[in-house]
Amino acid sequence: MDLPPYYPINDFGPAMKGIVIGGLGIFHVFLAMFAIGGGMLLCYFEWLGQTGRCPGAKKFVDGYFKAVVLVSFIVGAITGVAMWFTSIQVSPRTIGFMVHEFHWIWAIEWTFFSLEISSGYLFYRYGPKLTDVARLRLLATYAIASWFSLFWINGILSWQLTPGSWGDIGADTHSVWGGFFNAGFFPSLIFRTITAMTVASLAAMVIINLMPLDRAGKTDLINKSAHLLAPMIAMPVLGAWWTATMPADARATLFANIVMLMFLGMAVGSSVLIGLYAYFGLIRQRMYINGPTATLLTVLAFVATAGGEFVREGVRKPFTARAGLYSTSFTQVELDRLRQVGCVTNDPYPLQNADAYPSDQLRLGAKVFRFHCSVCHTYDGANAVLHLAGSWTPDQQRLNIAQLQRTKTFMPPFGGTPEELEALVQLIRWKSDGSPEAWPVSDDEATLAQIQAWLDEVGTRPGIELIHGGGAAEGGH
Ligand code: HEC
Repeated sequence: MDLPPYYPINDFGPAMKGIVIGGLGIFHVFLAMFAIGGGMLLCYFEWLGQTGRCPGAKKFVDGYFKAVVLVSFIVGAITGVAMWFTSIQVSPRTIGFMVHEFHWIWAIEWTFFSLEISSGYLFYRYGPKLTDVARLRLLATYAIASWFSLFWINGILSWQLTPGSWGDIGADTHSVWGGFFNAGFFPSLIFRTITAMTVASLAAMVIINLMPLDRAGKTDLINKSAHLLAPMIAMPVLGAWWTATMPADARATLFANIVMLMFLGMAVGSSVLIGLYAYFGLIRQRMYINGPTATLLTVLAFVATAGGEFVREGVRKPFTARAGLYSTSFTQVELDRLRQVGCVTNDPYPLQNADAYPSDQLRLGAKVFRFHCSVCHTYDGANAVLHLAGSWTPDQQRLNIAQLQRTKTFMPPFGGTPEELEALVQLIRWKSDGSPEAWPVSDDEATLAQIQAWLDEVGTRPGIELIHGGGAAEGGH
């Protein structure tokens, strides 16, 4: 019947759901980058040590590796599983959809991940007892396996923005490989690889400073690990390549939206600072870098990663999958249907503290908010609806919510009935008024007719003009 599935959605109080998952995601991505780049760095250092190019290298490999293993295995595993845990509470449909469509890709990713963990643990446990050849082989296995886990997940993540020849969500058949090797696949894969090398190199400099070595020994190791910063020079080109593969409307959002520009600025600015320091200080002048400075640069790399991830998440709005799944977890066909039957008519899940609301209308409003707004808004915490719209007149609230996609192009169109919309407006008014014990029911025919007229006038298509880009097929919209 073209209705979306309903899931029991959790409420994180003042923390916006997007922020909960975004914040955790950024932390997890940074750790993953560290683990991947760490593999490459260790291979390089092991080779330097074995060929006599760097005397302190072997000691570093055994020391640094312990840090890589501890941080990336333990915290990485905790945050990785936490990603699933939060995804299924915040956006179960999106993650479910991605699992469904890319089932075997996830499975392949897992095999590489297992290899990464096993080889890493074996090196941790037996590394010092192994022959040189075995050490190098084991490290290479670790590095290759961890890079491939990036390779596989990257295809799914870049598909979210550029579905490519996978096609539209409504189509009868989909090409998994067409979706996997989408337009954004290679620029983001190479970009992330270089990011991983950068993060590992900077983190290595922090660790080198903690090692019991003399100044000359430290400087030598630092200069060697700075070699992994050299590929940063390709970042501007890769960034431009990636933006070129984006759907044109997403690119327009990126450059027209002040918040997006701020995050982009964060990513680019921090990367430029690291790049300049790396080039002039570490590579050309072969300078020594102390612990605090190395830590500062690592923090900058974290800021750059955070900015980049925010941009990646942001430019997709109002979709979580550009192939046709809105951030609100319904498709276009379902949206059209929800306008007829109501967005929460079939939502079986009870409200938390349902008795706290004085009327059924307000309970309806709370359900509409939960289903339709809570993924990006809270009432009075982050991106709070009460702050944004609490002081508006009732008709301003009705008009702007009825025409959500016009109010802000990154919001999906409103998918519900005039009664639901009025219930939401009353809920916002009731809450802005301090949640009094009694609240009159608003069911004036003329008001509902006016809301219907506004809904009809704006239609159900997204506010952004969906322009074909990067081979993204938007057929059916
Ligand atoms: C895909 C995420 C998303 C969804 C879903 C969403 N919004 Fe928004 N909304 C935003 C963002 C981001 C802003 C911008 C906030 C800002 O400008 O600070 C915004 C702004 C607003 C504003 C202020 C507009 C203005 O011109 O100042 C209102 C009102 C609003 N949203 C109401 C809603 C309501 C009601 C719902 C649910 C029916 C909803 N939004 C669903 C992301 C979303």
